[in-house]
Amino acid sequence: MRTQSVRWRAAAVLASVLLVGGVAACGNSDTGGGGSKDDGKITMGFSQVGAESGWRTANTTSIKESATAAGIELKFDDAQQKQENQIKAIRNYIQQKVDVIAFSPVVESGWDTVLKEAKDAGIPVILTDRSVDSADKTLYKTFLGSDFVKEGRLAGEWLVEQKKTASGPVNIVELQGNTGAAPANDRKKGFGEAIAANPNLKIIASQPGDFTRAGGKQVMEQFLKANPKIDVLFAHNDDMGLGALEAITAAGKVPGKDITIITVDAVKDGMQALADGKFNFIAECSPLLGPQLMDLAKKVHAGEEVPPRIETEETTFTTEQAKEALPNRKY
Ligand code: AHR
Repeated sequence: MRTQSVRWRAAAVLASVLLVGGVAACGNSDTGGGGSKDDGKITMGFSQVGAESGWRTANTTSIKESATAAGIELKFDDAQQKQENQIKAIRNYIQQKVDVIAFSPVVESGWDTVLKEAKDAGIPVILTDRSVDSADKTLYKTFLGSDFVKEGRLAGEWLVEQKKTASGPVNIVELQGNTGAAPANDRKKGFGEAIAANPNLKIIASQPGDFTRAGGKQVMEQFLKANPKIDVLFAHNDDMGLGALEAITAAGKVPGKDITIITVDAVKDGMQALADGKFNFIAECSPLLGPQLMDLAKKVHAGEEVPPRIETEETTFTTEQAKEALPNRKY
């Protein structure tokens, strides 16, 4: 009888330990280490576009390093250039009750539903690098990133100046970023508006190369086959320009001389190509958004007002400027 009561008591103790443990475990999985965890630490869910370019790699490094430096717990997801992966990641972050969601939208459209879900859950969203075309601006707190239209315009204005004495047609081919992406739409727009100043400047072919080296090489090969006279290449990023270099060289042409090459980004490899005279001009797009992003996360978490748009400071580079800047280039 005594043995039996000892057994019952032991079983009761075990049950209560399991119950308490179970509740605690449920609590953890509910919060996912996020918002309702009471350790005072901010948790950010970040959905990255992918790893398509040198720019993107530098951007990811900046975000991860800055989160650590700011004492922010970062949940990071690589969407592999797919919108459905980003939507899934954002929904996971909502379920986990993170404190802040940040993401760089792979394309501009189609975010309203998931952004509304985040808003209804009371989780502030920060857009970084790329924006969305949502009419309802209350769906996100702020957008931190470059002015892509300006980058395209600066590239176009440089070309207008270079070709101001051209007496005949100047044939331009354009390598666009992934279809529907803000930097692809906006750089195309800015460049097109700027070159309209000189009717000799004509875009004879324009196709997406998805911001990758492989894409740039493949599309440039097609351009070269289809068009006997190409004077200028405008690539929406360095990586596509670097891929195109291979196609141009393989076609027996000298990049930077036979074909003027203009790109955007100014990552180290692009700057090296510019310093070597293979590229001719780069409009900078800075990937070092991490420190400002973490600062904004702290502010929105504390309920502080932040400006709806924060624009990154950027410049442009010629060959001489690239030679000078390269030794200190961080990415
Ligand atoms: O959104 C920024 C763009 O995305 C960069 O210019 C490009 O390199 C990247 O893939």
